[in-house]
Amino acid sequence: MMLPRCAVSVCHVLVLVLCLSAAEDFDWTKNNYGSFYYGTFPAGFSWGAGGSAYQTEGAWDQDGKGLSIWDVFSHRKGKIQQNETGDSSCEGYYKFKDDVSLMKELKLNHYRFSISWPRIIPTGIKSDHVNEKGIQYYDELIDTLMENKITPIVTLYHWDLPQVLQEKYGGWQNISMISHFNEFANLCFEKFGNRVKYWITFNNPWSVVVEGYETGEHAPGLRLKGAGAYRAAHHIIKAHAKVWHTYDTQWRGRQKGFIGISLSGDWGEPVDISNQKDIEAAERYVQFNLGWFATPIFHGDYPQVMKDFVGSKSVQQGLGTSRLPTFSPQEKSYIKGTCDFLGIGHFTTRYITHKNNPSGRSGSSYFADRDLAELVDPRWPDPGSEWLYSVPWGFRRLLNFVKTQYGNPMIYVTENGVSEKMLCTELCDEWRIQYFQDYINEMLKAIRDGVNVKGYTAWSLLDKFEWDEGYSERFGLYYVDFRSKNKPRYPKASVQFYKRIISSNGFPNQREVENWRRKSVETCSSSNQLLAAEEQRSTAANILRLIHDPLTSHMEMVTEIVVPTVCTLCILLSAIFLMFLLRRRN
Ligand SMILES: *[C@@H]1O[C@H](CO)[C@@H](O)[C@H](O)[C@H]1NC(C)=O
Ligand SMILES: *[C@@H]1O[C@H](CO)[C@@H](O)[C@H](O)[C@H]1NC(C)=O
Repeated sequence: MMLPRCAVSVCHVLVLVLCLSAAEDFDWTKNNYGSFYYGTFPAGFSWGAGGSAYQTEGAWDQDGKGLSIWDVFSHRKGKIQQNETGDSSCEGYYKFKDDVSLMKELKLNHYRFSISWPRIIPTGIKSDHVNEKGIQYYDELIDTLMENKITPIVTLYHWDLPQVLQEKYGGWQNISMISHFNEFANLCFEKFGNRVKYWITFNNPWSVVVEGYETGEHAPGLRLKGAGAYRAAHHIIKAHAKVWHTYDTQWRGRQKGFIGISLSGDWGEPVDISNQKDIEAAERYVQFNLGWFATPIFHGDYPQVMKDFVGSKSVQQGLGTSRLPTFSPQEKSYIKGTCDFLGIGHFTTRYITHKNNPSGRSGSSYFADRDLAELVDPRWPDPGSEWLYSVPWGFRRLLNFVKTQYGNPMIYVTENGVSEKMLCTELCDEWRIQYFQDYINEMLKAIRDGVNVKGYTAWSLLDKFEWDEGYSERFGLYYVDFRSKNKPRYPKASVQFYKRIISSNGFPNQREVENWRRKSVETCSSSNQLLAAEEQRSTAANILRLIHDPLTSHMEMVTEIVVPTVCTLCILLSAIFLMFLLRRRN
């Protein structure tokens, strides 16, 4: 009955070899940066731009809309830069027809937007009340897109939970969100699914749970360190799976669409790719972010490394069970495979190194659980948001990681772009042109690596409300003058550039691409002058307002008057200094 020992181990080795060769592994130790690649995308590649309901719609209390957690959060003082709100934002609720013309001008294939849950179900609970006016708004938006041959890609949850659900149940802390969200999703499939074929359940759940329930920087502003985010994520993953099954069993047969989730992930590159500890730390960084949601959805359970690290830290803290919840076997098989396509939002990269975090009770936090430190290269361009360094090769690395980890799923890039943080108005956004050119090129290289990317969504169509950053960061292809009552839009230079990438379906050759850049920047300078004149007029109006009401906005005065004045003075002084120097030379 006893098998010779060596035969058993030969079997083991064979099984091991078979497993390894079946699952292609991501190679952390090779990073081929490569030079710019001239070439085109596969035929039928879908080009788009996007935005979301709370960031663009405005009309926060119009036509029967209920309150969302972001309405309430942004009205609390001290939560948002300059105490701004999304009350009117881009007035997208009224200007959607104009915006569809802008999309048409760009020749977009798709437009990504989100449905505001409280706009169509004011309390979030369907049996309470359905708001027909809200449904009518999205009906018209979708019809207008269809008339212009622009495919809608629709997100069901882009962060604006109905406030009643937060107050009554504690929001995503509570398991009852699953059935309420499912009813909302089901209503959307019923009303819009005849025209909408691409559904995204959640946008960037990492941000929802970490910034909403761990750091409190986002609505609902809770700081439940080390536990709240894990619990909220657990319910979001289950809610995603439930909605996928609802679509799959009740609607897919008739509507023939696709339903996925959109995850946002920075890339984490080991500081030293020859150091195993750094490689493991970088992998943890990605697993605690993208993998937290993608691994259950593709493989049925949390990444092993999350279970290990959160588990052992919880034990060290004297807790009886892990702060990371567990799925039952039934739940695992219910959740596994609930993704027709994976949405990827991506903006930036970090270098990662191993760092032990002491795990006392006070140290209990999502961030401490990862045992790592994030670093940036000071040479990376950093034109806008503080966190957003331009590192194009990280995009290709991330896409290849997704391919190897999750069985080469169909991918739509749902967000990619760069912001600016400028005091003077600037439509000639050359750094954005550079960012798009390089990131889109790395995506093209990833497709050549075999990654199954079907579409790309520039983030975003318009400047818009940037959550806790208010209006201080601008991601738009189109500039929005938020100080003007009707929120006029102006094209930045990147509109012309992106339009040419779309019409060529890629990058034909060096000469042509350089030509595009030159032409884009040429056309923007005249619009820049136009806008500057417009803004001068509104600044003059603001000065008058200040004279009448000097106490209201000292801050506004600093940015609108003092800064340009200082700019002008600097320029004058340098001119004088230069003249002085030249004279001395003569
Ligand atoms: C925001 O509101 C808080 C509380 O009222 C106030 O202290 C702060 O100065 C406000 N900030 C701005 C920029 O108005
Ligand atoms: C979920 O909501 C119910 C009903 O309000 C409440 O009794 C329960 O305590 C909530 N659970 C959590 C975890 O907040």
